[in-house]
Amino acid sequence: MKGGAVKVTRVKAGQTTERATTGGVSGQIAVLVIHGPNLNLLGEREPEVYGRTSLADIDKELKNLGRELEMKVETFQSNSEGGIVDRIQQARGKCDVLLINPGAYTHTSVAIRDAIAAVNIPVIEVHLSNVYRREPFRHHSTIADIAHGRIMGFGAESYSLALRAARSIAEESRRRSG
Ligand code: DQA
Repeated sequence: MKGGAVKVTRVKAGQTTERATTGGVSGQIAVLVIHGPNLNLLGEREPEVYGRTSLADIDKELKNLGRELEMKVETFQSNSEGGIVDRIQQARGKCDVLLINPGAYTHTSVAIRDAIAAVNIPVIEVHLSNVYRREPFRHHSTIADIAHGRIMGFGAESYSLALRAARSIAEESRRRSG
């Protein structure tokens, strides 16, 4: 994983970094990025596994890339399963693609899986680390089989790769629905 000096800014749990999406499924392509538990500590937490980039810097990079790709990007982090479920439900009908790194809930949460299935928004599952190179309990994901695709193992870059993929998914689904 890449090292180097990166400014670390904490993102508070439950923090939404942009106001409610106004673009929605009919205007500009809207992408919601959800970060799960402990990801607010990125940059400081196990940097040998997750890298030295802070969550604030990842979110800033995603917003910049979103502007470049003409997409509206909203980001949200929560340490609580219920907070994540609530945010997924709020996105119903308002966002084209959901990028989610459910953190440890990836391996346990039926509630997050059910929320994703309920809102009918294409989902890209994102991980900084390649979970298959890690402990066996990280190999199972409750959302893998309902995700459009999964991107993992590229550190912070996993998110920007996923955002580029989100654009193709959104364009394709808008083409299909006329
Ligand atoms: C993670 C992998 C999970 O197993 C872990 O619990 C995390 C981060 C990742 O991005 O690599 O919190 O989702």
